[in-house]
Amino acid sequence: MKPLISLIYASRSAEHFHEHEIPDLLKQARLANAKHELTGMLLYIGGAFVQALEGQPAMVEAVFGTIARDKRHTQIALITKEAIAERAYEGWTMSHKTLDPVEAGELIGETEYFTSAIWVTQLDSNRAKKLLSAASMRWKIEHRSGKYRALGRGA
Ligand SMILES: Cc1cc2nc3c(=O)[nH]c(=O)nc-3n(C[C@H](O)[C@H](O)[C@H](O)COP(=O)(O)O)c2cc1C
Repeated sequence: MKPLISLIYASRSAEHFHEHEIPDLLKQARLANAKHELTGMLLYIGGAFVQALEGQPAMVEAVFGTIARDKRHTQIALITKEAIAERAYEGWTMSHKTLDPVEAGELIGETEYFTSAIWVTQLDSNRAKKLLSAASMRWKIEHRSGKYRALGRGA
């Protein structure tokens, strides 16, 4: 089996970046990630990003290098980079959720956490993992119910 790593970082979106630009960003990221066999999740929380990227080490490193130079965000803080036995986001070239800061706090059981001005530079790996895992559970549920709704309509 090929070795896999997972990398998580947080960053603040640039002043000129607006939420409505996220679909374009995701489109670009998903095409490139499919090519590089990368999977992951991108959260957008009140003007900040938290992203998990997973795949083969060289690919993750290379793409993270590109992402880190991207002018659409600043204050990039690497939170973890570690070997993983299996992908947490298998089949998702980049899932995404926009959360408001209170909602994000609720997902980690600390309502106020993401309302502070400094969390982006201080987010630790435990909180980041808890947040990503709770957000991805929601994402899965929403996608599944979306599919069922679509099936229901057609029936
Ligand atoms: C918050 C954020 C997340 C991004 N995520 C990815 C990603 O998962 N994969 C990817 O290839 N590019 C991602 N990008 C885009 C890259 O930074 C870069 O624009 C893209 O890889 C194209 O680079 P190139 O013009 O050098 O080919 C992201 C950019 C931002 C600002």
